[in-house]
Amino acid sequence: MASARKKAAEAMAMTDVVIEVVDARLPEASSNPMIVGLRRFRNRPCLKLLNKSDLADPEVTRAWMDFYNRQPGVKAVAISAKNPAEAARVPTLCRQLAPHRDDGVKPLRMMIMGIPNVGKSTLMNALLKRKVAKVGDEPAVTKHQQTLDLGPGMTLTDTPGMMWPKIDHDADGYMLAASHAIGRNAVIDEEVAAFLGEILIARYPDRLAARYRLDAAAMAGLDGPALVEAVGRRRGCLVKGGGLDLEKAAQILLQDYRDGALGRISLETPETRARMIAAAQAAAAHQVAAAGEAGEEDAAGEGGAGGEGGD
Ligand code: G4P
Repeated sequence: MASARKKAAEAMAMTDVVIEVVDARLPEASSNPMIVGLRRFRNRPCLKLLNKSDLADPEVTRAWMDFYNRQPGVKAVAISAKNPAEAARVPTLCRQLAPHRDDGVKPLRMMIMGIPNVGKSTLMNALLKRKVAKVGDEPAVTKHQQTLDLGPGMTLTDTPGMMWPKIDHDADGYMLAASHAIGRNAVIDEEVAAFLGEILIARYPDRLAARYRLDAAAMAGLDGPALVEAVGRRRGCLVKGGGLDLEKAAQILLQDYRDGALGRISLETPETRARMIAAAQAAAAHQVAAAGEAGEEDAAGEGGAGGEGGD
């Protein structure tokens, strides 16, 4: 990680525009704070690509674009890198962010960054119209930094997949796992599916009802784990002896989300994100206050003991 950061920092110095690729379904959970830090340090403009927008809820994606476009030096665009026409817009958008490089002499130097599996290789392949990096659904397939010519006067550098150095919120880990940015072995499918289930029940209940043919009675009072069970029953996921195979049921729910079989779904919105952060801050403040009170009580206790001893 330290070497990835060092390489990225060096490359940043020779970059005019940072192309930050995030997953449109979870743009904040899939953005790496290290990238933002490096970019701001060098004061580089950023084209924020909300990729896989074909899988994300369009209304929520619009809200995220408004959110990012209010940030200085950021231009947010929703794309699907799998669609060559949409990918082809990227160089023009970068040119607009670095007009000083449009003098016919200096090349426009772009650097593509993002955590694994957000679609960087797919985008690069589309831009270069050839396969330059192995595109795969397993995290961290792009390993080496490389600079490629992207037509006259334009270069594109990619960086090794830089995973979030520290996942500050449990929800981020679950969102990343549900969207498969965290490897299959790293997390338990059942837990992730139950987390995803909670979001789907709260925000997309009709999709669930339609996909798994769940009537109003089945939907009433449903929570994440119960949804996984309901999917298992509907799809006949049984273990030897007749019990429910919850792991299989969880995988079905996760795969349906990943493939878009449940429709276009976003796991976070600017509002849910703001609420999550506010709740985390409140919990942290509460902890500090509780620790402070405990410290005061200890001190008082010690003082009291000393007083007693003096009597
Ligand atoms: P990375 O370099 O950032 O690690 O990501 P990569 O391009 O390898 O893409 C990871 C997976 O995401 C690939 O799926 C890729 O096809 C898919 N993907 C990338 N961009 C988009 C997009 O805009 N929309 C959708 N729906 N999927 C996208 P895969 O299952 O490994 O390959 P494939 O079978 O889909 O080709």
